[in-house]
Amino acid sequence: MSDFSDAWLALREPADNVARADALVADLASLTKAGPSAVLDLGCGTGANLRHLLPLLAPPVAAPSSQTGRGWQRWTCVDHDPRLLARLPARLSDWAASEGSTITQVGNTLELTGGRGAARISTMQLDLMAGIDDLPLPEGGLVTASALLDLVSADWLDRLLWRCRDAHCALLFVLSYDGRCELQPSLAEDADVIGLVNRHQCTDKGFGPALGPAAAGEAEARCTALGYKVRSADSDWRIGADASALQTALISGWYEAALELIDAGRSISALSRADLQRWRTTRLAEVEAGRSRLRVGHRDLLALP
Ligand SMILES: C[S@@+](CC[C@H](N)C(=O)[O-])C[C@H]1O[C@@H](n2cnc3c(N)ncnc32)[C@H](O)[C@@H]1O
Repeated sequence: MSDFSDAWLALREPADNVARADALVADLASLTKAGPSAVLDLGCGTGANLRHLLPLLAPPVAAPSSQTGRGWQRWTCVDHDPRLLARLPARLSDWAASEGSTITQVGNTLELTGGRGAARISTMQLDLMAGIDDLPLPEGGLVTASALLDLVSADWLDRLLWRCRDAHCALLFVLSYDGRCELQPSLAEDADVIGLVNRHQCTDKGFGPALGPAAAGEAEARCTALGYKVRSADSDWRIGADASALQTALISGWYEAALELIDAGRSISALSRADLQRWRTTRLAEVEAGRSRLRVGHRDLLALP
């Protein structure tokens, strides 16, 4: 089971959608008239990556063929958390209704038709660490992940990339946290807190020691070495005063991560428990007063075989 709740994923989805570097997706979509015929979404959660990418990658099709499968984009959405996977159909239906599309359950597959392209979507519960060799890579298709890469280890990433290269898959890894944070108004403790957060990001998140803020850069270097054509761009969250719930969740999460390291005696600064608690109280008061603004650095990466 993961630490990611349905509520947290729903809270971050609007900020993610605004931040994404969609010029990279346009490059991918222009490769083929109909976009990739098959897509594998790793660490899909409740399907946010699918909801964002499908309209960009699958051009509307009037009448996809049930017999031949032609005209459908096939999506396989993988996650180890059954609670998140169970929420995916309802989240997708709500989104489809708001976009003028329809979702129909056909056996174990969700069929999306209407203005947002035609897709056959299936979910797969799999631990990506233990089950990496069981991943159904789409030969010549797209492997994508949003907000996953910073959780994985260098060894796991290497294994994934070798398999993807051998299967001639294009890669789109978006919203990898890169360690840059700007907090307004600034406080003296900000740098120490973010330093601890970035150190916590490199602890084991289920894949071995996590790449954390280095993930996007490491992935870019590895893809280039494997012969991929690589493009990358910033996809920073710029969180305004109106997004107080997201700000509160982030500040609370940063506090918990920093506290864990301080309590474990693994701090890298003179920041004490009391300093950290004062920092949180002041930060949350700034959010409450409508004065707080946050910028959180992310990177998007496109790699074409
Ligand atoms: C930050 S969330 C991103 C979710 C989704 N891609 C999005 O953008 O909303 C990371 C996701 O990776 C999944 N995850 C973490 N470790 C995993 C593992 N070992 N195997 C499969 N999924 C995993 C979590 O359950 C969660 O859904």
